[in-house]
Amino acid sequence: MPQTDQFSYQGLFAKSAPKEPPRAATAERAKYDFAVAYPDPESLPLDDLVESLKLALDEEGKDLAVYPHQMGYPPLREYVASKLARDRQMSVTADDIILADGSSQPLHMVGESLLDHGDVVLTEEFVYMGTLGMLRRFGADIRGVECDEDGLLPDALEGAITRAIGQGKKPKFIYTIPTFQNPLGWTMTLERRQALVELSQRYDIPVLEDDCYVDLRFEGESVPAIHSLDDTGRVMYAGSFSKIIAPGMRLGYLTGPQELLDVARATKSGGGVNQFAALAVHRYAMSGLDAHIEESKGILRTKRDAMLAALGENFGTAAKWSTPEGGLYIWLEMPEGADLVAARDVAFEAEVGYTPGSLFAPDGTSGKNTARLCFGYNTPQEIHEGIAKLAEVFAREGMLIG
Ligand SMILES: Cc1ncc(COP(=O)(O)O)c(C=O)c1O
Repeated sequence: MPQTDQFSYQGLFAKSAPKEPPRAATAERAKYDFAVAYPDPESLPLDDLVESLKLALDEEGKDLAVYPHQMGYPPLREYVASKLARDRQMSVTADDIILADGSSQPLHMVGESLLDHGDVVLTEEFVYMGTLGMLRRFGADIRGVECDEDGLLPDALEGAITRAIGQGKKPKFIYTIPTFQNPLGWTMTLERRQALVELSQRYDIPVLEDDCYVDLRFEGESVPAIHSLDDTGRVMYAGSFSKIIAPGMRLGYLTGPQELLDVARATKSGGGVNQFAALAVHRYAMSGLDAHIEESKGILRTKRDAMLAALGENFGTAAKWSTPEGGLYIWLEMPEGADLVAARDVAFEAEVGYTPGSLFAPDGTSGKNTARLCFGYNTPQEIHEGIAKLAEVFAREGMLIG
């Protein structure tokens, strides 16, 4: 029957409502899926999580009848604080931690707490799309700062700061993913972190450190958290269980000075985080998580090695790529003039998915000749096959000349 009285929300949407729909809720996936960052599906600790949940529910399941603590399940906040102290030398207590839906929500909370339309935010020249989306949502003037394989270039950062100040637009904060950067793959060195803290203190600009990959180091020395290098409260820090357990758990956290946390907490509606998930993750974190992280790192290392070897075999000297010491991403750089935005659909037809680099650019267009390749999902054998297919596609498109 034709709907004659169909109601329309057009005209009712808030001025601040998102103008663009988000990515399709269930995006189509390629067989060789290097596009999205999934953990290895085969090694998800499902049995251990079920057991942990059962244990927790036996002990305190009836508490699910009441709303959880607004900052999130206290024992899990205790665990996070002690993990940050143990692994990142950060001096925080459970009262300094807010649990949230992954680390996306903490980033959003910071954006909502600090950003007015037009505020300048400085960040790496290519950066996680979710953060870009959030910053755009709050109308931020996002300025990418030049990096090399050691991280943000201090001179470039200072130049961006003084330029913005000269325009009467002192940056609200600096956002960085210093460890196994998404999408670039590098880890910011200690010297660069110290320089960043020094600039933050000198110009009075806070830093938002997004460290969701830090536990996935399978090579090289750990580098101290930026948060641990500052004792002035200028560094906010977001972390997540997504990359060490599973994104489906939707659990992460934010820490920072209390005055920031108080406002951030007020931006979060809904009353605490999912207690059901928090109970399972807490019991699991107290027992099997460290061993699981070790196992995941071994698997990821094998997959990274498979991708590096396949790139070497199939791309030779025709392209450049990063060699990350951890995390999930390799950054591929084809010669200037290559258009990996246009080639994405062709690659998808050939069953290979990747994310064009320009989607990570604050201006949305730079880096057409680049792409992010995730090595977390497919098996090493599939990675070899997929990279070979990708090279075939690029050769057919006239982009692989070497
Ligand atoms: C750098 C970075 N930050 C935050 C997130 C958000 O992840 P989650 O909300 O699942 O913790 C991601 C996801 O890929 C990411 O790459």
